[in-house]
Amino acid sequence: MHHPYQIRSLEQYHTDYKRSIEDSEGFWSNIAEQFVWKKKWDKVLQWNFNEPRVRWFEGAQLNITENCIDRHLADKGDQPAIIWEPNDPSDRTRVVTYNILHKRVCQFAQVLINNGVKKGDRVCIYMGMVPELAYAVLGCARIGAIHSVIFGGFSAQSIADRLADAKAEFIITCDGAYRGAKDIPLKSVIDDALVGNTTVKRVIVYTRTRTPVSMIKGRDVWWEEEMEHAALQLEQAGSVHVPAVAMEAEDPLFILYTSGSTGKPKGVVHSSAGYMLWTNYTFINVFQYQPGQVHFCTADIGWITGHSYILYGPLSAGATSVMFEGIPTWPDAGRFWDIVDKYKVNILYTAPTAIRSLMGFGMQPLEGKELSSLQVLGTVGEPINEEAWHWYDEHIGKKRCPIVDTWWQTETGGVLISNLAGITPAKAAWATLPLPGVQPMLVDENGKQVTERDEQGLIKGNLCIKTPWPSILRTTYGDHERCRQNYFATYENLYFTGDGALQDEQGNFRITGRVDDVLNVSGHRIGTAEVENAINAHAGVVESAVVGYPHDIKGQGIYAYVIVSHFHQDAEQTRKDILQTVTRVIGPIAKPDKIQFVSGLPKTRSGKIMRRILRKIAEGETSNLGDTTTLLDPGVVEEILKGV
Ligand code: WTA
Repeated sequence: MHHPYQIRSLEQYHTDYKRSIEDSEGFWSNIAEQFVWKKKWDKVLQWNFNEPRVRWFEGAQLNITENCIDRHLADKGDQPAIIWEPNDPSDRTRVVTYNILHKRVCQFAQVLINNGVKKGDRVCIYMGMVPELAYAVLGCARIGAIHSVIFGGFSAQSIADRLADAKAEFIITCDGAYRGAKDIPLKSVIDDALVGNTTVKRVIVYTRTRTPVSMIKGRDVWWEEEMEHAALQLEQAGSVHVPAVAMEAEDPLFILYTSGSTGKPKGVVHSSAGYMLWTNYTFINVFQYQPGQVHFCTADIGWITGHSYILYGPLSAGATSVMFEGIPTWPDAGRFWDIVDKYKVNILYTAPTAIRSLMGFGMQPLEGKELSSLQVLGTVGEPINEEAWHWYDEHIGKKRCPIVDTWWQTETGGVLISNLAGITPAKAAWATLPLPGVQPMLVDENGKQVTERDEQGLIKGNLCIKTPWPSILRTTYGDHERCRQNYFATYENLYFTGDGALQDEQGNFRITGRVDDVLNVSGHRIGTAEVENAINAHAGVVESAVVGYPHDIKGQGIYAYVIVSHFHQDAEQTRKDILQTVTRVIGPIAKPDKIQFVSGLPKTRSGKIMRRILRKIAEGETSNLGDTTTLLDPGVVEEILKGV
C-alpha cells in the first residue's frame, strides 16, 4: 500500500509537478487533507516576497505531535518509532515504540508545564543524540513552546549569543555526551554560557555520562526526578495522555540558528503547518518510503537535516527512524555498516563528507558486512563529487540502490531539488529535478534570468526560487528586516539561495556551491566573517581574512590569513592560541585548517580585501591571480605567495 500522495512513476512526477504549479492551492489542499487538523484552513496560500510574508493554511489549527505520534497509535502503537544505537556498540540498544514515544513525550510535556514553560516560550536544547533529545523536542512542540536546538559542537559563547537572541528562559541539556572516544561536558559548557545571564529561569539536566556537574539551587533540576514527578501526577489523573496544544498554522514551531555571510548567526524560524506538510511529503516522495521500512539518517539533530529527516519527516509518516549517538569512525570505520546490518536499515541518508572519509579507509571496514537490507541511499549537505557518488553506488548500494542527491537548506525546511528514488532518473553528482511546487530559476548578477547555454549546453547562474513552498522560512527571529535583506532583497520577487547552479538541457540542476561568503566545511555552514571575528578576538591579532579551499574530505577547508602584532613565544604557539580562541568563541567546528601569518592583506585603494586573490592562493594558484593593478600595494601578493 502506497501513501495516497506518493509519486509512483516518472509520468506521474510530470503531471503532479504541472498541477502543483497550475493549481497550487488545489494540489496542496488535497495533500493537507491527509493530516490531522484541529480546525481546517480558510485559505491555502497568501504571499508576497517583498515584505516577505508567506502564510500557508491560514485559519487552520493543528499540533504536529498529533501527526507524528497520536495518529499512529491505533495501528502502529507497538512498532518502533525510534531505534537508538548508543555510542558504544556493546551498550544496550533502546527501542522506542510509538506507544512509548507517546508516553514519554506527554510525560516530558508535563515536566515543561510544571516548570512554567508556556506556549510561545523559547526553549534551548543542548543535548547529545539520546532518545531524550527527541522527547525534549517533541515535548516542546506538544505544548507549543518554540524549540531551539544547538549542536553540541558549539561553544559557551555561541550558546550565550543564541540564548540572548532568542530571549530563551529555559534550557534542556545533559551532564555530558559521548562522541567516539570523547566525553563532552555539556552541562559545564551551559554553566559557562550562563555566567552573567539573568533571563534563564530553569535548566533541566538529563544524566547520560554521570560526569560530575554543578547544580544551582532554584535554577537547575534533574530530568529523571522531574519525569518521575510528572509520571505520578499523570497516574493520579488517570491517564498518560497530555493534550496537544492547538497551534495556529503559522505559529512558529522552532528556531534554528545558521550562519550567513554577515558576522552573527541568524535564527531561522519555521512554521507549524507548512513545515509539517513539507517534511512529510518530501520524506515519502524523495526516499520513496514504504510502510515498515527502517530509515537511518546519520545527521545530528543539532542541524536541520536531523530535525526534518530523523524526527518530523519519518515520524509523521509513521516510519522507524534510527538515531545514532556516535560517530562513523568509532570504534572503527565500519560503524555505519554494522548499524545497517544490525537493524536491517532500508534507507541510508548521509553526507558526502562522511562518504569520502569512509572511502579513505579502503575496503577492509566493509568486510563481512552484508548491506543487503539497503534499498535507497541519499546524500545531503554539500555537492557530492563523482568519485564519492560511484563509490557509494558500487560498494554500499551494490548498484541495486537508487541514490538521491538532495539539495536544500536550513531555510527551506526540507528537500527542494532531488531525484525521487527509483522514480525520476539519477545523474551522478546532480541534484536533478525540483519537487512539485518548487520553481527554481537561474539568474545573473542583475537578477535577469539566464537562458543562454554554454558549449556543453549548460545554463549557469545564481539559484533562486520563484514562489513559496510550504516550509520556506518565515522570518529570522527578532529581526524580520534581516530576513528580507538576506533572502528577498538581492533579487526582486525571488528567494535567493546563496548557491550557484548549472542546469542541463533535460532541466536537471547541479548545485556548484555557495556564491556568498559562506563556507561548507564537512557539510556544516560557517560564515567567513564569523570566523574572522573569532580570530580577531585573539589579543595579538591585528587583522585577518578567511577563505575556503578545496579539501579532500571536508569538501571545503578553512584558510586564514592573519596579521599579528607579535608572536607570543613563537609562531607555532601563537597559531595554537588562535585556534583555541576560535574554539572558545565559536566551537571546534570553526577552527581554521591552515593559518598563514602575513604582514599585509591585498586591499583595494578603498580598503576592501580582495578575497578573490586570497581564494586563488588558498586553492594553490601561483600565477593567474587576475588583475592586481587595482591593489593598494601589489607587493603584498608576492609576499603572501612566498609564505605559502
Ligand atoms: C549546500 C543542509 C550541493 C548548499 C540541508 C546549501 C548542497 C547549504 C546540497 C545548506 C546538495 C546542501 N548539493 N550542495 N545536495 N545540499 N547543500 O543550511 O550550499 O546546513 O546552500 O542545510 O548546503 O546548508 P544547511
